Amino acid sequence: MNREYNSRIEKYREFFTKEYLMGPNSLRLLDEMLAKYPLKEGGRVMDLGCGTGLTSMFLAKEAKVKVFATDLWIAAAQNAERFKKWGIDDQVIPIHADANVLPYAEGYFDAIVSIDAYHYFGAKKGVFTEKILPYLKKGGIFMAAMPGVKEEPDGEAADLLLEWMEGSKDDYDTFHCRKWWLDLIGKSDEFEVVLDLDLDCYEEAWNDWFVSGHEYGVKDKAYMDRGMERYLSFIGLVIQRK
Ligand SMILES: C[S@@+](CC[C@H](N)C(=O)[O-])C[C@H]1O[C@@H](n2cnc3c(N)ncnc32)[C@H](O)[C@@H]1O
Repeated sequence: MNREYNSRIEKYREFFTKEYLMGPNSLRLLDEMLAKYPLKEGGRVMDLGCGTGLTSMFLAKEAKVKVFATDLWIAAAQNAERFKKWGIDDQVIPIHADANVLPYAEGYFDAIVSIDAYHYFGAKKGVFTEKILPYLKKGGIFMAAMPGVKEEPDGEAADLLLEWMEGSKDDYDTFHCRKWWLDLIGKSDEFEVVLDLDLDCYEEAWNDWFVSGHEYGVKDKAYMDRGMERYLSFIGLVIQRK
């Protein structure tokens, strides 16, 4: 491991546990995205789908921004307790909200960051332009990193993915390749895709999840070992509002 951005992640190793992780290590995904596209210090950032708030903490401490930690499945009160315990409650505000109906003023954010979450609500035509973009200031940044596939699944890959998703077509339909995401988001005078990539931290992010002791991590590892790992990727996108 010789990536220069890997060292700051070590400070957070105590959080790589089943109590905080909700999937492949979101801190590694965010760390790599910020290394490749740093955010301006002092900005106002929505962490959309923040889960237990690990990424919100990382944004506050490492990117030095003010964070609106927004999530649907995790109660704001639980995150408020964690943010107080972590000493970041003056910089990170917990909000319970659905990405489809966000409770914010339009044009309010310098950045909207969504780590391991956007694929749950963003994989439909119009979500980006109608539900996300309006909340960015002009010049503001949307940054997402999410699990996906190297190519749209077919044959054995499609069968294995569907089995892994326990037959749920909705869950299956959250996994797409980079080209699919770029086609879905499309092109417009209102925004520009400034970075799209398959992330380098793939192996470490999954390994942290497998050894976290989370029961889903154990199940995911079994599917990786059966061949799923050949087909998967983490997709990173950065889009700027014009
Ligand atoms: C796998 S967890 C990842 C959480 C966190 N970003 C992390 O990586 O640790 C996915 C998160 O997406 C959030 N989510 C899913 N659908 C959502 C929606 N419609 N609006 C807001 N958050 C949503 C869930 O509440 C959940 O916490």
